[in-house]
This record gives sequence, C-alpha cells and structure tokens, in this order.
Amino acid sequence: MSLDVNRPDLTVGVIGTGAMGRGIVQVAAAGGITVLMTDARPGAAAEAKEFIGKMLDRAAEKGQMSKDDASAATNRIRIVDSHKDMKPCHVVIEAIVENLDAKRALFAELEEIVTPDCILVSNTSSLSVTTIAAKMKTSHRFAGFHFFNPVPLMKLVEVISGLLTEDWVCDALMGLGKRMTREPVRLVDAPGFLVNQVGRGFSLEASHLVQEGVASFYDVDRVMRDVGGFRMGPFELMDLTGLDVTQPASGLIYNQFFQEQRYRPSLIMQARYEAGVLGRKTKKGFYTYDAEMKMSQPAEKAAPAARPDSVWVSPAEAAGATKLKELLNKLGANLEVGAQPSAKALILVTPVGEDATTAATTQGLDPKRVVAVDTLFPMVKRRIIMTTPLTDPAMRDAAHGLLASDGVPVTVCRDSPGFIAQRIVAMIVNIGCSIAQNRTATPPDIDKAVTLGLNYPNGPFKFADTLGVQNVHRILENMNKIYADPRYRPNIWLTRRAKLGVSALTPET
Ligand code: NAI
Repeated sequence: MSLDVNRPDLTVGVIGTGAMGRGIVQVAAAGGITVLMTDARPGAAAEAKEFIGKMLDRAAEKGQMSKDDASAATNRIRIVDSHKDMKPCHVVIEAIVENLDAKRALFAELEEIVTPDCILVSNTSSLSVTTIAAKMKTSHRFAGFHFFNPVPLMKLVEVISGLLTEDWVCDALMGLGKRMTREPVRLVDAPGFLVNQVGRGFSLEASHLVQEGVASFYDVDRVMRDVGGFRMGPFELMDLTGLDVTQPASGLIYNQFFQEQRYRPSLIMQARYEAGVLGRKTKKGFYTYDAEMKMSQPAEKAAPAARPDSVWVSPAEAAGATKLKELLNKLGANLEVGAQPSAKALILVTPVGEDATTAATTQGLDPKRVVAVDTLFPMVKRRIIMTTPLTDPAMRDAAHGLLASDGVPVTVCRDSPGFIAQRIVAMIVNIGCSIAQNRTATPPDIDKAVTLGLNYPNGPFKFADTLGVQNVHRILENMNKIYADPRYRPNIWLTRRAKLGVSALTPET
C-alpha cells in the first residue's frame, strides 16, 4: 500500500481541537490540505476554527503568507459532527486527551469507519505507539505523529513507527509532515520517543545536582545559559512547561524503561509537583512571578575584593591548564612556575568529570588550598569554580576575586564531579548515544530533532564533537566511578567512539 500525500484532494481528519489539535489543523490547512475536524465538547471545534482563522489572518498581516492564501487555508477547514464523518479522510490525526483507554476506544471506532488504506495516527506525547496499536485490528496502518507546542512555531514532528507499523505508513507521514511545512524526523517507538528522552538529561541532572546541594537552581540556570549556551536554564524551562507536565512525563519514561537509572526522577521535582508549586501557571515554581509574569531571582553576589598572593596551576590536565594559565596571565595573576606549589599558593586544578576532592587527593595536593576551575566550556561569559569540603574560604574568595577581576561573573559551586555544565551536557550526550545505539533514530536525526524540538544550542552529537568525545566519555566515567551510581555509566556507543578516537556521529558500517 502507499499514499500519495501530494495529491491535490488530500483530506486529513483531526480529532480533538484543543491546544495541539488546532495547531495541527492550522499547519495542515496552510499546507493546502483539506481538513475535517471534530471535538467531543460541543462548541469546541467552532472555537478552534475561529482561533485558527485569526492565527492565519495574523500570519498574513505579518507577511508570512498572502491574504488570499490565508483565506484559502481557512476555507479548507471543515467542522464535522461526528467521527463517522471522517470516512473520506486519507489520514486521521488523533489529538484527544492523553488517556490510553480513550485513545484505544477512539481508534477501535475509527477502524470501522475509515477506508482500509486510511492511515491512523496519534499525537500522544507519552503513551507507547505499540501499546495503543496493540488492541487494533489494523495496527499495521497506525503510527505516532508527535507535534510540539505551539505547533505553528515548532517545526519538528516525530514520525514514530510502532512494532506493527508497516513502512509505507511512515514513508507517507514523512511526506505529509513536509507538506504541512514541518521538519519530520523518523524514529522507532521508545519511551519518551526521542526529544522527551533527551530532555530528561537537562532537567533531571540539573535537579539531581541541586538536590545534592552543589548549587542553587538559579545558579544552575545562569551557568547553563552563559556557559552552556542554552536559551533557558533547566529550571526556567520547567517553570514554563509546568511540573504537572514534566514530573509525570519523567516518571513515565523512567518506568517504561524498567527503572533505567539514567532517567531516575528527582525528589525536588516530585515535592513541588505534590505541593502544587508548578511553575508559571501557578505563579510560583522554582521562581516566583508577578502580575506581569516577571520572574524574580536573587541578585548575583558581588565578587570579593580578595586576590591570591600567588597561584599554582596543576599540570595534570594539560589542555585545561594551558587555557587557564592564558586567562590568569591576562588577569595579571602572580603565576608560580615550580613543579610543586609554594607553601602559601592558591592551587587551581582543572578536572574533567572529577570533583575537586578527587583531583586534590589523587594529585597529592593540599585540599585546603585547592579550587577547581571548569575550563572545558568557554570562560568568556561566566566562569565556574568549585571547592573541596576543606577549601579555606579565603582561598575560595581569592580565586573568585581573581577570576572575576575583568568583570566576568563567577559561579561558585560545591564539590561535584563535572561541576554543573559538564555533567548536565554529558548526560544529554549519553542519552543521545543510547537513542542511537538502540536504533531509535540516527545521530543526525537526533541532533536535528533536539535543536528543533528543544531549542538547545547543539544536539547531543554536536555537543560531544565540540567538547571532545573522549572528554565527554571521561566525564561520565569519572562520575560513574566517584558516585558508584549506574546512572552515570557511559553508553557503549560513546565508549566505542571515544576508544576509536572518532566523531560521535560515526555510524556502524
Ligand atoms: P487539550 O486538553 O488542549 O485538548 C484535547 C481536546 O480533545 C479537548 O478539546 C477535548 O474536548 C477533546 N477530546 C477529549 N476526548 C475526546 C474524544 N474522545 N473525542 C473527541 N475529542 C475529544 O489537550 P492537548 O494539549 O491539545 O493534547 C492533546 C494530545 O496531544 C494529548 O495526547 C497530548 O499528550 C498530546 N500532546 C500535547 C502537547 C502539549 O504540549 N500540550 C505536546 C505534544 C503532544
């Protein structure tokens, strides 16, 4: 079987015209497709049609499409009364409530209504495509078609084949996605599909390190924006999405993967979820919001005036030591050149995935004078330093004062293998690699989906290649060793490419 998605009379049905359904209708109609839509709540489809009409008019006002095209698109949308009216559709997209029984009941009904070659798809965000299909008589023509909110702005659509889905179905959906002006990415059914799996790396690792007392959530956000290059920090993002969405999704992914520790949920997220401290929608999440939804956060602490008498940089990490010495020279530090630090020197180490304690003890350095500096990420917009539990506060302040002396802010965190950004980005890479290794999607598609669906500055593979595959692998190996927690074990995809010294993108022949 096949479906020519470019046929002029292509007709798509959309069931459920809430936040997602209406966006899907809009982009389908704008793509020249006739759309039939319906909703169980009386009046809902009419409200949606009015809303979509306004959105299309606005797009015309902004010059994104001509007025004629906008009104032609609006005219292609038809409200129908019942699911029975979906009979002429070539594809029916379900965007109803996220409930397995409701979705299964709907597809059982639709199977009896539409023609045998009509494709049936679900926009589910968290249910298994294979599980929804399991009760269908015609599961071979069923797939996932996962859009992102708000649909007109988010170009990505995940095309997900379930265990029983036939290839022609996803071939057609890839074409349909393009006709709807989307950027479709093809993948095999997996918990959290692709984008929502990778998103756990960002939010959960950030939450775990805050729970551990490494840094405050606003410091983590600042670091991930300024050092990691993310548009939003993980906690700002969770406030925007709402913990009522993020926390259950995290629990589902963890359990659907049979308690895979990489996806272990966070207690601080759970507590806030239970307390109803959900984010912007409750005006209080990690941050609080005023009537204009302005986010409040504590001002950054001023940098101390203290400076070290002299600084000794450990040569143990050659690349990091070179970068740091260059910076310290620019800052006019009194750099010691001896093989060992003098008795009073501030000792700077530049670990990759190690905590300051491990760096100090394995190198035989005085932990009271050791401060670690993250040199793996650019030190241009912000610098990160961390202490051992024994670091003398005067040494910490001297390091802080010196590294902030050119006006670049410094974040001081407590001891942590991988500081803040190293460990969060390493988790994103590790999850990306496990998606590739599990053959859920290809590395280029994973990067494409992550940059489009999550707005990250890089996808996991680009991050790995930019930071160095071996560096990211070392971060994870060190975290795994120091924490003795399988959560941090490097995925075999990454391990092999690190051993071979090749790009993380390298496929198997
Ligand atoms: P929503 O609550 O805004 O809209 C759901 C609509 O479906 C409502 O208008 C409701 O009246 C209607 N409905 C419920 N049961 C129905 C039935 N049996 N027959 C016909 N209409 C029915 O929900 P939203 O956010 O649009 O989500 C819809 C689906 O899209 C869910 O599966 C959700 O997980 C998924 N999704 C949601 C995203 C989001 O950010 N909101 C992102 C990606 C997917």
